Amino acid sequence: MTDRLIIFDTTLRDGEQSPGCSLNRMQKLRMAETLVQLGVDVIEAGYPNASQDDFDAVHAIAQLAQGVTVCGLARCNEADIEATAAAILPAASSRIHVFIAASPIHREMKLKMSRAEVVERAVKGVRQARARCADVEFSAEDATRAEPDFLVELFSAAIAAGARTINVPDTVGFTTPSEYRELIRLLRREVRGIEHAVISTHCHNDLGLAVANSLAGVEAGARQIECTLGGIGERAGNAAMEEIVMAVRTRADQFGVHTRIVTPKIYGAARTLSSLIAQPIARNKPIVGQNAFAHESGIHQHGMIADRSTYEIMKPEDIGVPGSQLILGKHSGRAAVKDRLSQLGYDVHEAEVEPLMVRYKHLADRKKEVFDADLEALYLGVDPND
Ligand code: KIV
Ligand code: ZN
Repeated sequence: MTDRLIIFDTTLRDGEQSPGCSLNRMQKLRMAETLVQLGVDVIEAGYPNASQDDFDAVHAIAQLAQGVTVCGLARCNEADIEATAAAILPAASSRIHVFIAASPIHREMKLKMSRAEVVERAVKGVRQARARCADVEFSAEDATRAEPDFLVELFSAAIAAGARTINVPDTVGFTTPSEYRELIRLLRREVRGIEHAVISTHCHNDLGLAVANSLAGVEAGARQIECTLGGIGERAGNAAMEEIVMAVRTRADQFGVHTRIVTPKIYGAARTLSSLIAQPIARNKPIVGQNAFAHESGIHQHGMIADRSTYEIMKPEDIGVPGSQLILGKHSGRAAVKDRLSQLGYDVHEAEVEPLMVRYKHLADRKKEVFDADLEALYLGVDPND
């Protein structure tokens, strides 16, 4: 099995579908440029039959994006597939992603179709898409709540009809890592023609398990991950790309796969998205949050000064974060205070440390964060808050 993990970015489709994250055509183009530079393999640029603006955005990205596969989403019906085929036409490398719901609840309540009708519609959709594009992906929406034997039948039929990628969405974020791992293993064992297709994960984050479930899928043999920057997406979002990429990189021995992502561009890309959707990145967000490489407790700061790997499992520069930060606050100790003063150019004598720390703790108790100017003033004998 290949060790190349395909990163299928759906920030501009599933991500953009989340409340407050919609982007206009120019913003989508700007973000697509960033994603290309980041090194994603596939950009799902939108759902062309949803609106003229979405069609235009996918078309414009297909015209401009180089070195990436541009994909559009379509239901298994002629109008969606034709619109998608037309939108992606200018791309040097393109894909049509067709989907139909697979679970009993979706079949009965939404589609009002039997299992046989769903298979028939899926096969027709994949064939139509294949007539317009050599690269077709098929998704069984709500796969994790569908009967496994039905998924085997549906995916086998989709591959026979020409799908190159079969995607196993956890549409409502319901599965767990062990269950998803078993499902992917079963599909690898039982789907006919699976050796000619790539298995893909598409996990939502309703129970906070999207990244863990995606990684479990990789352990079971999935070689494409569908994800979004910052994990934006429907409801609680999709699997966060930066977390997946850094997990497989940091734990390379465990996962045995690699991506094409230029990791030092991750932080800049996350900030570009944040400014385009006008939503701040949560401070405690893994990898790209302001606190991801910030240390406040005295014990941790002491360790960090001795050796960064005591409390950091990744290097901030590998993600494009300017550097680790030792935040001076009420939990900081003498090691961090002395270290900061020495960075500010002061040679602190041992005899000065004790009285300085008494004044420092007094100030830190009243302030959330002690800034460099506060510390300098304290050291020079002036308490700025007196
Ligand atoms: O969550 C989902 O099932 C989807 C499909 C359209 C792939 O987004
Ligand atoms: Zn989705």
